[in-house]
Amino acid sequence: MIERIYAVYFSPCGSVGRTVRAMAMAASKELSVPFACIDVTLPKAREQTYAFGPGDLVFLGTPTYAGRVPNKLAPWLAASVSGKGAAGVSAVCFGNRSFDDALIELYRMMQSQGFAVYGAAAVVARHAFTDALAPGRPDEKDMEAVRTFACQAARKAASGGPCEALPVPGQDPPTAYYTPLGTDGQPARFLKAKPETDMARCTGCGLCAAICPMGSIPAERPGETEGICIKCHACVRMCPRGARRFTDPAFLSHRQMLTEHYARPAENVFLV
Ligand SMILES: Cc1cc2nc3c(=O)[nH]c(=O)nc-3n(C[C@H](O)[C@H](O)[C@H](O)COP(=O)(O)O)c2cc1C
Ligand code: SF4
Ligand code: SF4
Repeated sequence: MIERIYAVYFSPCGSVGRTVRAMAMAASKELSVPFACIDVTLPKAREQTYAFGPGDLVFLGTPTYAGRVPNKLAPWLAASVSGKGAAGVSAVCFGNRSFDDALIELYRMMQSQGFAVYGAAAVVARHAFTDALAPGRPDEKDMEAVRTFACQAARKAASGGPCEALPVPGQDPPTAYYTPLGTDGQPARFLKAKPETDMARCTGCGLCAAICPMGSIPAERPGETEGICIKCHACVRMCPRGARRFTDPAFLSHRQMLTEHYARPAENVFLV
């Protein structure tokens, strides 16, 4: 029996959060049980562990980064989110190229953390890098499908029936990350790239520092990026003055390649 539903998500630019919250809300309505949201995007939320158990149904969502669960998040997820006896649903968003091995990675991770995983979904979302890929998605049609999927998975979890293996696509176990390519078809190396700040535009409001999932922007010097940058684009997209942007030539070449080759509408995948 399901008594509580949770949406747990890492979502720097908001699409995963919107998607997984919609899933939890629909499932909560379907089963008439309360739901709560746990946003683990900010470093503070990842200072603690989250243990779920019998009676819980957890919708766990992450973005796809380089065809996988974000590599700076995966070890924390594996160590800090457990589901002994809980039911679960794995959900990834991807920005119109491909989710590659992200969903199988999350699905296997949840299983090994003790969740009985009743559903798995890969949902198309606007690419964090550019509005040219999957603009406006997930749109209303996607969200309708997201809610239908969540209700199916919730009913299955609540039925107490067997938790069957799902045919999740991808390399199992995943072995490699997607290699970003440039417009010349060659690997584009921008691992060290960080956003630049136009100080003529920056008002010093501190929003970018408050929302960086890596805590890499010092509040007293928001023009700088210290430490790890996962290129999530939260600071670029949320800055009210449009002051932050990536200027690294290899990154820009990759972004251009994506717009040239992956603009067609990609399909969602729902497995239940
Ligand atoms: C660093 C990075 C790598 C990404 N890699 C992929 C990818 O391999 N395939 C893909 O289709 N989308 C990729 N995306 C797009 C994200 O999966 C997509 O924008 C997702 O919705 C972001 O979630 P959020 O809006 O909750 O932050 C990438 C985005 C970022 C920031
Ligand atoms: S959000 Fe934009 S304006 Fe505010 S401190 Fe950061 S860069 Fe400056
Ligand atoms: S500095 Fe990097 S990690 Fe931090 S919000 Fe900006 S793009 Fe994301």
